[in-house]
Amino acid sequence: MKTQIASVDNLSTEEQSYTQAIDLLKAGETVAFPTETVYGLGAVATNELAVSKIFEAKGRPQDNPLIVHIGEIEELMSFTKNIPQIAKDCMDAFWPGPLTLILPLKPNSLARNVSAGLDTVGVRMPEHPVALELLRRLKLPVAAPSANRSGKPSPTKAMHVLHDLNGKIPLIVDGGATGIGLESTVLDVTSKVPTILRPGGITKEMLEKVIGPVNESKPTDHAEAPRAPGMKYAHYAPNAPVYLIENSELTVRNAVEKIHSDSQKVVLIAREQYADIEVDYFFSLGKENQLQDAAHLLYEALRSCDETDADLVLVPVFLKEGVGTAIMNRLEKAANGNWYAK
Ligand code: TXA
Ligand code: MG
Repeated sequence: MKTQIASVDNLSTEEQSYTQAIDLLKAGETVAFPTETVYGLGAVATNELAVSKIFEAKGRPQDNPLIVHIGEIEELMSFTKNIPQIAKDCMDAFWPGPLTLILPLKPNSLARNVSAGLDTVGVRMPEHPVALELLRRLKLPVAAPSANRSGKPSPTKAMHVLHDLNGKIPLIVDGGATGIGLESTVLDVTSKVPTILRPGGITKEMLEKVIGPVNESKPTDHAEAPRAPGMKYAHYAPNAPVYLIENSELTVRNAVEKIHSDSQKVVLIAREQYADIEVDYFFSLGKENQLQDAAHLLYEALRSCDETDADLVLVPVFLKEGVGTAIMNRLEKAANGNWYAK
């Protein structure tokens, strides 16, 4: 299969790009498209064969359910039931936007492989103009995980999708770089106390202002594979091992010295105050205290590691506050929990 790229930046090709994407989706194919978080790989959520093509292209484990994207609230009626009031309050406050709500699934409504056999479904209304335009023209719910090969960092540019899925999907709608850069916050509103299963751009503090107390699931809860205990998937990982390290210039300098004395090459992914440390490769996460920038740059930096011949990757940690919680969630997964030890 040849993977085409359709631009929507340009008025003369825009209309044709949307038509091509809609036609493919309606014909049961997959299409990659930008959202405000990361690029998604979409298929019509009521078409089991189309959805199976997502799992195949990504190499995704079948027991990891997909998020369903909608363009209008009314679409919820066809595949969810008993929507709790707090969910409605969240929709009013944060949709369209980077918040996925886990809602009760109406039986026999969506393709079975969307929700991996669970009786709940994750839904969001994305805020990106291209995603919204596609969904509103299509008028059907679209299942869309991040458009990367399973285990790799999520794509924040069309080129990342092409790198991972070239020849495996028919079309990538190119809308430029995504904004937030980390996947949506996943909030389970079917539990007694609403629980964040995956932190993202909509923070605990922002949610609590609207719906009161919110729990955070601990890393040991395996939120990435709900109700599949014991399963833990590699995530966001470059080929070279990633190590977390204390957010201290001195500690990082000492570590780099030690690594070089062992004749190894190192990538440093860090904020700009680290830029003058002499490493083999440095990928910036922006200025200190600009967490939004770090979130925006993180996945591209992790991907860039695979273009180097480095033996290991060091990342000074972030405070788990605000968006820092989401950044650290992804970094802990990329590092598989490992810290650099001399
Ligand atoms: O920002 C995003 O959410 C992106 C863009 C494309 O919208 N999508 C995305 O999808 O990140 P994906 O498939 O890579 O992540 C879906 C997450 C997984 O952690 C999955 O386990 C969880 O949502 N999830 C989906 N349905 C669920 C359910 N019914 N119960 C619990 N967790 C669920
Ligand atoms: Mg993903």
